[in-house]
Amino acid sequence: MVELTIDGVKVRAVEGTSVLEAAREMGIIIPTLCYYPGLSSYGECRVCLVEVLKGKGRSSLEASCAMPVENGMVVLTNSEKVKKARKVVVELLLASCPTSKTLQDLASNMGINKIRFAVKDRGCILCGRCVRYCREQMRSGGIGFVGRGTSRRVATAFGVTPVECRNCGGCEWICPVCERACTADSLVNGLCGACQNAAPVETCRICVGCSESVGAHGHTVY
Ligand code: SF4
Ligand code: SF4
Ligand code: FES
Repeated sequence: MVELTIDGVKVRAVEGTSVLEAAREMGIIIPTLCYYPGLSSYGECRVCLVEVLKGKGRSSLEASCAMPVENGMVVLTNSEKVKKARKVVVELLLASCPTSKTLQDLASNMGINKIRFAVKDRGCILCGRCVRYCREQMRSGGIGFVGRGTSRRVATAFGVTPVECRNCGGCEWICPVCERACTADSLVNGLCGACQNAAPVETCRICVGCSESVGAHGHTVY
């Protein structure tokens, strides 16, 4: 077992546990996007940032989902530094996917009501949940990342339904962007945070050509 301090409370955790899991065991809520229980950690979205104190006034911001617990570690999950950094991360993600209801809800909870960055709707935050789900749970590998930098995206090989695909639909189901979309008229840089829309999005916004339900307008979800 490993002993560490999270938000001033001494806790013991099994070696190999992530800081996120140890904090959640204590009932502490840390927002996550690329993390999903049962999938490998990717540490990409940075929404789960926590502050790790290093002594002598020094500290670092770390992705808690990808950081294993260590003996003597001192962690703050909701310090001013953490809250400020998380806000910037969510704003940047929203700039890539302004209509994602998951992101908008996250933003609302953080008191974000405006996106300060240039908005370019890419329909994907590159969280990799779909890719890991396909590979690790379905043992398929029907989809993967292609391209680099700003052209990086999730796709099938040659843009066609791969033979490896089992048509499970899991890649759509697990996507935090496909799940639900905001349907407000104007969302260029404003977020009202008052939406009660819980309806599923009619069509998947990132067609990876993997499902039997693909139609003229993309996937039909649910
Ligand atoms: S529908 Fe196909 S590509 Fe999507 S997770 Fe299932 S097997 Fe993978
Ligand atoms: S398609 Fe969805 S699940 Fe896949 S990487 Fe993009 S945002 Fe994540
Ligand atoms: S949830 Fe930890 S980096 Fe994405």
